Amino acid sequence: MPLEDELGDILQKARDGKSWSRDDLVRATDLPVDDLQRIESYQLTPEDSDVLKLAQVLDLDGPALIDIAQDRWEPDKPADDPDFDLVCLNVFMGEYPVNCYLLRCKATGETAVVDTGANPKTIISKAREMGVRPGMILLTHAHPDHAGGLGELSDAFDCPTYIDHKEPRPKGSNNFKIVKEGDEITLGKLRIQCIETPGHTTGGVSYLINQTLLSGDVIFAGSMGRANSSWEDLFNSITKKVLCLPDATGIHPGHGPATTVGQEKNHNPFFKGRMG
Ligand SMILES: [Fe+2]
Repeated sequence: MPLEDELGDILQKARDGKSWSRDDLVRATDLPVDDLQRIESYQLTPEDSDVLKLAQVLDLDGPALIDIAQDRWEPDKPADDPDFDLVCLNVFMGEYPVNCYLLRCKATGETAVVDTGANPKTIISKAREMGVRPGMILLTHAHPDHAGGLGELSDAFDCPTYIDHKEPRPKGSNNFKIVKEGDEITLGKLRIQCIETPGHTTGGVSYLINQTLLSGDVIFAGSMGRANSSWEDLFNSITKKVLCLPDATGIHPGHGPATTVGQEKNHNPFFKGRMG
């Protein structure tokens, strides 16, 4: 699976963090505005020296940003957990894939769906193939690409939907269970810890099972989510809630490949060198 974000996305998100327009970035770097426009729209890969210049003014790690600009880094998969199966399914909204997950306790077979996607037929048929009937739906947030299929899944499985207390309730269920920071959900023998990770949305929540984090659109391998509600909140969610977990913790995001805390601390241009 390719990285979710390319150089152009990372630059736009870093500008967003400084509330800079593209013109502000042109002024800070002396790069031609046309070049910058082409870089941000994925049409031009700049020289390494220009990537370093961009990294420096945007508070990004230069070598990590070069690796992504040159397509030279991809994360190794996190280790599997012996206590559960985690099946990642690509559910498409148009041409745009979202990672949804089936989480099955190995001891009891009890299963949860994490994010529904917009068109959850893939999830329903995979659950049938696995011979499981999910007993709960966990939403990381309510965006339509993650929760648009809630009605169809609720009809198929007739189960409760967990969502953070600060997140708007999406259509499609009349059986919501509301969670907040520190809450624990039990799935068979598994304990699922709720960690509030706002910033992409006001009520974004990540779910931690042992050393596996299902994090929605908070952090991507090599980048961060889009800060729709607050850039500062999102940055703090990542640095204070996600990247302080043990290095071996697997991060399974809503888009792009899975990664680990340790790999993001060493390769993510937003966070490399900031986590001690
Ligand atoms: Fe989202």
